[in-house]
This record gives sequence, C-alpha cells and structure tokens, in this order.
Amino acid sequence: MSKNDDTASSVSRRTLIKMGIVTGIAVPIPALSQPPNRMRPQSGDFIIFDEEPNLGELVRPEMLDLNQQPVSALAKDPDTDTVRDGSRLNRVMITRIDHNKLTERYRDNTADGVIAYSAICTHTGCDVINWDSAQLRMACPCHESQFDIYDGGRVVGGPAPRPLAMLPLEIIDGFVRVAASFRGRVGFTQQF
Ligand code: FES
Repeated sequence: MSKNDDTASSVSRRTLIKMGIVTGIAVPIPALSQPPNRMRPQSGDFIIFDEEPNLGELVRPEMLDLNQQPVSALAKDPDTDTVRDGSRLNRVMITRIDHNKLTERYRDNTADGVIAYSAICTHTGCDVINWDSAQLRMACPCHESQFDIYDGGRVVGGPAPRPLAMLPLEIIDGFVRVAASFRGRVGFTQQF
C-alpha cells in the first residue's frame, strides 16, 4: 500500500466518523443501568421484612409495635417480585413511631407511623443495628454513633458526620410501599 493509499484510507475513516457525528448515526453504547436487585428502592416498591419472625413478608403497619427496636427490611418490585438485595446500601431499618412526636418536616415521609432509615452508618459504613430503647435512638456498634429517629435520623452522639438517609413511605391497600427515593445520601464519606 502506498503512502497515498494510507492517507486516503485515514481520511476516509475520519470522514466516516465525522459523517456519523454530523448525520447523527446512532453508535451503540453499552447500557449503564444496574441489575434490578442492585437498584435503590423505587417508588411503588413493597417493603418486606428481612429478618425473622416475618422474613420475606410484606410489611403492614400493625405488624410493628410502637417504638420497637428497628428491624431490617428491603424493597421488593411488585411487578417482577425482585427483592432489591443486590447492594447493602439498599437495606433499611424500620420501626413504628408516634407520628405526632416526629419533627414536623419529616411527617410526610412516614406511613401510618412506619418510618424507614438507611441501615448504613454515615461514619464508616457499619450496619446501624443497635437500639437505645430508653432514648429511642438507633445506634451503631462500631464507634457508637447515635441517631434520633424522631428527628430525621439526626446525629446525637459519636463521630458520624451526617444524619441517616430516610426512605419516604406510604400505605397502599394496607401495605407499606416506597413513596420516593431516599432523602439524604446513603452510605458514608471516606474520612482522611
Ligand atoms: S461506622 Fe458507625 S460510628 Fe463508626
């Protein structure tokens, strides 16, 4: 192949690329969407228990006692029955509160008193599984951060830098469903 042939071929490739851009020819790009079980809870998803004694059951408000220790729960797509368990960032802790004692700005996020917070501590990401029943605070077992469930998951002790993310809920046909995506950022910020 002569130098001229190389040049012609190179020009031709460049021209074709340009034409693609100019004419808007679609170039297939791999989809960036996540598998459904890794997606964060979506509006309309059911909430299901993720621990005994009601493992896998759809949550109804009357299944929770007032101010009981929060229990682990997940979202489930009602159309495909996909449980969104592909990321630990999807897990929430749910309990039932006295709606009237909740800070007013968060009241629309609860469903018949059921409230859901991300299970992931905003300090370094441990699961917030402990419970101070005297002060009604969720607590992290790793470095003892505490979160006020009656005030939007506000940090009331320990090194956590941010409140827990809150998952807005609603009631449809007696069952607890996801009303909107997480309020606040789920997960933790790396500390340096
Ligand atoms: S990871 Fe929760 S307090 Fe440190």
